[in-house]
Amino acid sequence: MATNSTVIVPMLLPARLLSEIRARFHHVGTCPITKAPRIFFENGGGSLKLRAAIAASAELAAIPDQEQRDNDASRYITAVINRGREDLRLFFGASTGQVISGETGTELIYRFIRAVALSAPAGPFLSSSLEHPASFDSAKLWADRTGRTRIAIKLDIHSGTVTPADYAQAITPDTRLATVIHTSQLTGLHVDLPGIVAAIRRVAPDCYVIVDGIQNAPHGRVEVDRYGADAYVFSAYKAYSRLAIGFAWIGPRLERVPHEHMQGKSDKYWELGSRDPGIYASHSAVVDYFDWVGSHFTTDAGRRARILAAADAMAAHEKALVGLLIDGNGPRPGLVQNNKVTLVGPASLDDRQGIVSFGLAGRSAPDLVREFAQRGIRVHARIDDAYSGHILADLGLKDCLRVSLCHYNTPEEVDAFLAALQDISASI
Ligand SMILES: Cc1ncc(COP(=O)(O)O)c(C=O)c1O
Repeated sequence: MATNSTVIVPMLLPARLLSEIRARFHHVGTCPITKAPRIFFENGGGSLKLRAAIAASAELAAIPDQEQRDNDASRYITAVINRGREDLRLFFGASTGQVISGETGTELIYRFIRAVALSAPAGPFLSSSLEHPASFDSAKLWADRTGRTRIAIKLDIHSGTVTPADYAQAITPDTRLATVIHTSQLTGLHVDLPGIVAAIRRVAPDCYVIVDGIQNAPHGRVEVDRYGADAYVFSAYKAYSRLAIGFAWIGPRLERVPHEHMQGKSDKYWELGSRDPGIYASHSAVVDYFDWVGSHFTTDAGRRARILAAADAMAAHEKALVGLLIDGNGPRPGLVQNNKVTLVGPASLDDRQGIVSFGLAGRSAPDLVREFAQRGIRVHARIDDAYSGHILADLGLKDCLRVSLCHYNTPEEVDAFLAALQDISASI
């Protein structure tokens, strides 16, 4: 089982807390444009936004002042950024290295891979086809450009994941860089990250390990001190805040790899250009939210302890929802009781984190998206495109429907989805 440091037992959030949680988000039950009622199961494409995060961002966006000036507005901005960095460090669970922001998760991953590719001695790069193109494509591109081989571990439809044993089999002592996805945005399976990093380091101790944590970060613990990797990246818009912001933790080894930076700054400085204080303020609002959720589950006074308690409670709720989706609830059949459904990955809840993808015989995934939309349910089709083509090819699928849940979703919403599925299945 490839979960976090604690085993997550499926457990719904108390109903009253869940309704308080929902009140903290924009557009929970209706489409922002049509205002029609809507169940939002497209969290893998971007989460709902916390009201407090958006308000904090808007407040900062209106301030024209810049850092490093001798005035109160400038000092305020610096304080906001410093608090944001401290909150990011707490969120990552990082006691070493540094946290930085960038244009997107993809851009940060490309930048790290490019820096390693341009400075590491000859030797291959290793990825897996479970990955998003953010790491899968960039490792290939930079391996090609620097005359290296790129080895890609394959996955299959039954497991829907990759394991430490897969990495152990593929790694060679001269592998210079390995990419790992913490949770797949398509299969929803969470990998054993510390196990994979250990399998890599046993054979190639100096290999740089870059982790795409974009699907995990909003749905489970982030504990970079425990993983032994060199970089961990997530995107703010999947984590209740703004679009087009990536955050990364960079470990002490990667920090020193030569990279583009202003010449007057330290060799360990990775950020390019002025920082937007609004993104830090909005992430602090996200961490305040975790802190508040966590305070319902622990009496620990430490902010990090409450962040972890919140992450575990959110993960437990999502696991319970995924359980309802897969197994149904008494009279309502779940996905496994529907003989037209082909599930991606195992039916077991062990390593699932908020996402279930499946095919329905007799309907393409894009058609299903439209049919669910007619019933007020937003889901997404994964098709043979730039994002999912390489994953679907390994799974042997043309397309699949992705249902991506979040901790603010309710058991009633899952039941409505299953009722709609029953209805659609009966019409085939
Ligand atoms: C797992 C994963 N990695 C990377 C990305 C790309 O993130 P961004 O849009 O911030 O570049 C996504 C976005 O869908 C994702 O789900």
